[in-house]
Amino acid sequence: MKHSTFSALTQRPEWQALLTHARSMSPRHLRELFAADPTRGERLCVEAVGLYLDYAKQRIDDETLRLLLELARACQLPESIEAMFRGDRVNRVENRPALHVALRAPAGAHITVDGRDVIPDVHAVLDRMARFTEQVHSGAWTGLTGKPMRNIVNIGIGGSDLGPVMAYEALRHYSHRDLRFFFVSNIDPTDLSETLRELDPAETLFIVCSKTFTTQETLANAHAARAWCLQALGDEAAVARHFVAVSSHPEEVARFGIDPAHMFIFWDWVGGRYSMDSAIGLSTMLAIGAEHFRALLAGLHAMDEHFRHTPLERNLPALMGLLAVWNANFLGVSAVAVLPYEQYLKRFPAYLQQLTMESNGKHVTLGGERVDYDTAPIYWGEPGTNGQHSFYQLIHQGTRLIACDFIGFCQSLNPLGTQHDLLIANLIAQGEALAFGKREEEWRAQGASQALAPHRACEGNRPSSTLLAERLDPFTLGTLVALYEHSVFVQGMIWQIDPFDQWGVELGKALAKRIATEIAQPEPSELSHDSSSNRLIRRYRQYKAI
Ligand code: F6P
Repeated sequence: MKHSTFSALTQRPEWQALLTHARSMSPRHLRELFAADPTRGERLCVEAVGLYLDYAKQRIDDETLRLLLELARACQLPESIEAMFRGDRVNRVENRPALHVALRAPAGAHITVDGRDVIPDVHAVLDRMARFTEQVHSGAWTGLTGKPMRNIVNIGIGGSDLGPVMAYEALRHYSHRDLRFFFVSNIDPTDLSETLRELDPAETLFIVCSKTFTTQETLANAHAARAWCLQALGDEAAVARHFVAVSSHPEEVARFGIDPAHMFIFWDWVGGRYSMDSAIGLSTMLAIGAEHFRALLAGLHAMDEHFRHTPLERNLPALMGLLAVWNANFLGVSAVAVLPYEQYLKRFPAYLQQLTMESNGKHVTLGGERVDYDTAPIYWGEPGTNGQHSFYQLIHQGTRLIACDFIGFCQSLNPLGTQHDLLIANLIAQGEALAFGKREEEWRAQGASQALAPHRACEGNRPSSTLLAERLDPFTLGTLVALYEHSVFVQGMIWQIDPFDQWGVELGKALAKRIATEIAQPEPSELSHDSSSNRLIRRYRQYKAI
């Protein structure tokens, strides 16, 4: 790794200008910013493809935005956007394109990779997925004993799990209720065992999802699932009726024993965490049907078009990404809470954790130089209002500055009295309370004792954005997913890192393989780890069940 005192980014005059500006902005309170401009709430918002983004409660003024846009241009963001859409090798470290946008491009579009137009391939797979979905829904696809499928078990991890499970939960309202969906990811045998407990193998279809088809967790679970299935059904022919695969590596799928005719392919130019709209979304299509899946793709594509063609100052993903950079690098925000006020989005924060942190959790630039600025903050979250009774306390009164993304919908898919109004009242209240707080003197004026007032006081000035849409449907989910995908890209381009590789996960994987071999040895062997790890291995070997 090369070292230098100041990176190219922090030496930029645009970065330096933001640093100077931040010194004048950081003491300014959102109370003051709102008081100075009564139209702030009407001005600092943008709407596109059905999503309304209110960023008035971010700690910015017009100058902040101007400087951020200058930084974006200096970092050649518009050129990078175009390069990604064109299919250039924007995943520079792995020397390949990152073309998830091709997965939702309409038939008739043309995007080439190595001289080949990939759009016909994308639509051929979508059509195969739709035919398969129809077979399963109609009962034409039967198991070994002739029974139709009732249970769909997706086996995968990371991008081969988080996108599918998030989308299934998000769109459950639109799902075929006569099918039951399960998602197994963890190598912990409890995950698979508890899932299979209640299932009838004769009615169970496994989708083994793995881009590489070499991932330890997925292969271990898939082998165990196959053994469970064969033990019950007693015939090797069951594999062909009860297992399908999604992968970029047909040879590995064949090695596992799944007929390549029962495999749905996707490509090297689709990153795992950007793959939920590829064949990795087969479980999603089985849940909601091909038509709704195409609506999801249309939503993703609509946001792609917005991102590609809208000037940066009105461009939702560009603004969200630049605000994230402002918060992380100039205000010292170290974490972002993603707070969907929509129960169906309960897995959205987990999905975003991989998207944001696996993409931008990087410590070197594209050129291999150590960065001298922070990259991705920590993302976490829970659906509102649950988080309010848990970690919001820290956001309101803790010592760390946390930014929040509130996400809400104007219509409930399950209206129940006034409950949805109460839900959204809470969403709006939280943003307001975080921004404005309530001072000690205000509490004292309301009768709080001298001793209690400091405990009740909330400083406010906690930044947040609010995303509001009409209702959660497949199209809207698509727009939301693409919004975050592209916002992550914007941040990566500013930070000059590769948002499409993930080398950091490899070291642990390799060590785990080595330790697994050592644990499996019957006789104590010479261990060459550190003294702590050595002792943990010995202790585990001593006490593990034999
Ligand atoms: O965690 C690393 C990772 O490579 C992710 O990027 C990916 O989504 C996940 O593992 C699963 O990989 P695969 O789909 O190849 O099984």
